[in-house]
Amino acid sequence: MLTNALRCLLRNPVAGRRNMSHSSLAGKVAIVTASTDGIGLAAAQALGKRGAHVVVSSRRQANVDKAVALLKSQSIQVTGTTCNVGSGEDREKLVKMTLDQCGGVDILVSNAAVNPFFGNIMDSTEAVWDKILDVNVKSAFLLTKLVVPHMTKRGGGNVVFVSSVAGYQPMQALGPYSVSKTALLGLTRALAPELAHSNIRVNCVAPGVIKTRFSSALWQSEEIAEEFKKQLSIKRLGEPEDIGGVIAFLCSEEASYITGETITVTGGMSCRL
Ligand SMILES: NC(=O)c1ccc[n+]([C@@H]2O[C@H](COP(=O)([O-])OP(=O)(O)OC[C@H]3O[C@@H](n4cnc5c(N)ncnc54)[C@H](OP(=O)(O)O)[C@@H]3O)[C@@H](O)[C@H]2O)c1
Repeated sequence: MLTNALRCLLRNPVAGRRNMSHSSLAGKVAIVTASTDGIGLAAAQALGKRGAHVVVSSRRQANVDKAVALLKSQSIQVTGTTCNVGSGEDREKLVKMTLDQCGGVDILVSNAAVNPFFGNIMDSTEAVWDKILDVNVKSAFLLTKLVVPHMTKRGGGNVVFVSSVAGYQPMQALGPYSVSKTALLGLTRALAPELAHSNIRVNCVAPGVIKTRFSSALWQSEEIAEEFKKQLSIKRLGEPEDIGGVIAFLCSEEASYITGETITVTGGMSCRL
């Protein structure tokens, strides 16, 4: 019987490949920005549980230390450093440290975002726009530009941007932030065809309302949370793990024919451009 199975595999190598786990990320190195809490931390956990060595970072050393300790306690291979993605110097330090300590990079999850402004879009200032576009959009592109040559050297890789349902339907009082998240949908589509030549896939996830510190204004009041739930098919708010798994899937061989896409992960909130 064993001989028959081996003969079948020799005649049909694709069947053999299909039997291997296509979700495994063993041997891969993954940079996840803003990964000491919330969605970034959940993405680092999901990638790490599939065997990737994850490089976690955020602005505060104490948060980095805490996340590294947590991931180590879960037997995840992890390295940590501080990185404010809005700083060019910090972005370069993050990539250099990854190359020095992990020998290369295969995956970039660009997850960091800020929102310094709530209110009518017409009241937003140039300083607000500069900050939002620098951190949420430009840094995502500039980090991609830094890692692409190193992914190319390893024969390919994956980039995942974290957008938002607000990128499809601007949220009230979050105009500039919402526009920055729409820009990431465009960035995904602009990069994907160019980087496909280097076997690098570029995709994006657009979370709905996920229970994290960042979105606490949207769910801490029972009344507002109930309003959001009315818009959902699945009547609960999202958890960071709901997004982490989708990000890991996009970086895996299971998604090897997906590029230039944004997956909305919203519990069924309807969204379209
Ligand atoms: N939560 C939601 O409902 C929701 C929905 C749609 C999209 N998103 C998107 O998901 C992403 C993550 O949000 P989250 O909800 O997971 O936030 P979160 O739980 O509040 O975590 C934010 C993380 O970002 C780090 N951080 C903040 N500013 C940074 C910067 N300039 N450079 C590097 N790290 C930075 C924080 O650590 P430090 O303080 O140490 O820097 C922390 O680790 C964002 O892009 C957000 O727009 C969230």
